[in-house]
Formats: sequence, C-alpha cells, structure tokens
Amino acid sequence: MERTFVMVKPDGVARGLVAKIIKRFEQRGYKLVGMKFMKASEDLLKQHYGDLAGKPFFNGLVEFIGSGPVVPMVWEGKDVVKQGRQMMGETNPLASKPGSIRGDFSIDIGRNIIHGSDSVESAKKEINLWFKEDELVSWTCPLEKSVY
Ligand code: PPS
Repeated sequence: MERTFVMVKPDGVARGLVAKIIKRFEQRGYKLVGMKFMKASEDLLKQHYGDLAGKPFFNGLVEFIGSGPVVPMVWEGKDVVKQGRQMMGETNPLASKPGSIRGDFSIDIGRNIIHGSDSVESAKKEINLWFKEDELVSWTCPLEKSVY
C-alpha cells in the first residue's frame, strides 16, 4: 500500500493547525501509520532539503523549519502521494485553490504550513530519513472496507 511523508511545518504548529490537517487526511480515508512531535536538527533538514542546496532560499528554509517544532507523519492509502499533494495545494499559497490546505490557511510561500512528498520515490526516501522502521505501525483499521 502506498505511503507518503507529510510534515506540519513550524508555522502550522504555531498556528494550531495540526489537528485540522490530520482531520483532512483522516476524513479523506487515509490511515496514519507514523507521527512524531520534534525539533529537526540542521543536519536532518540539510539532508531532507538537499536537492535545494543551490537555491537562494535554502539557508532561510532550513533555519525556519528548524526554528520550532514540526509534526512529521506517514500516511497510507490509495494514491496517497498524489492525492496528498492535491489536498495541500500549490507550493505558492497564492496559487492554491480554496479548499486546499494552503489555499485555506496561508498566503506566503515561505510560510506554507505543510510539506508533502512529491513522488512515491521521494516518499520512500523521506520516510526512511525521518522514521525508523519500528516507529511505523502497520495496522488494519476495523472499519476498513476491502475495496482495493
Ligand atoms: S523550486 O524552487 O521549484 O525547487 O521549489 P519547489 O519545488 O516548488 O519547492 C521546494 C521547497 O522549497 C520551498 N520553497 C521556498 N521556501 C522559502 N522561500 C521560497 N521562496 C521558497 N520557494 C520554495 C517550498 O515550500 C518547498 O518546500 P516544501 O517543504 O516541500 O514545502
């Protein structure tokens, strides 16, 4: 079953949006299989955002995401990588449709509340970077229908 990595960024935590974001994934039908509340180290963030090392905003991004607690999560379910990105909206909140997380709660690209993996491959890498195998819970929801 497909999994994705989602992280509520420090601005989302500070604004009290954690529960609202979780609710959206739950109500869509996705299953939470891992979650932490932590401050990320500079080393972890430099690995996570390594592909962006040449961007002018790289240092500011790493500094901001490390400035306060974040909530990294792993969500599981059908097409969750792509659907999760659609639920989040565009990187630039001003290009995000109302109804999406960024479109409903943000206006600044540097304070766009949430991160989500952009492909199944990067989801695997990000999950491995942020979670140990025994921090993920494989479980069957009693309400889960066998509709796959
Ligand atoms: S880019 O420029 O095309 O690589 O950007 P993109 O792939 O859309 O975004 C990659 C991550 O960089 C963040 N980002 C920014 N942060 C701060 N300031 C600016 N200007 C900025 N532009 C992009 C963006 O939010 C992405 O981080 P995540 O954690 O995935 O949201």
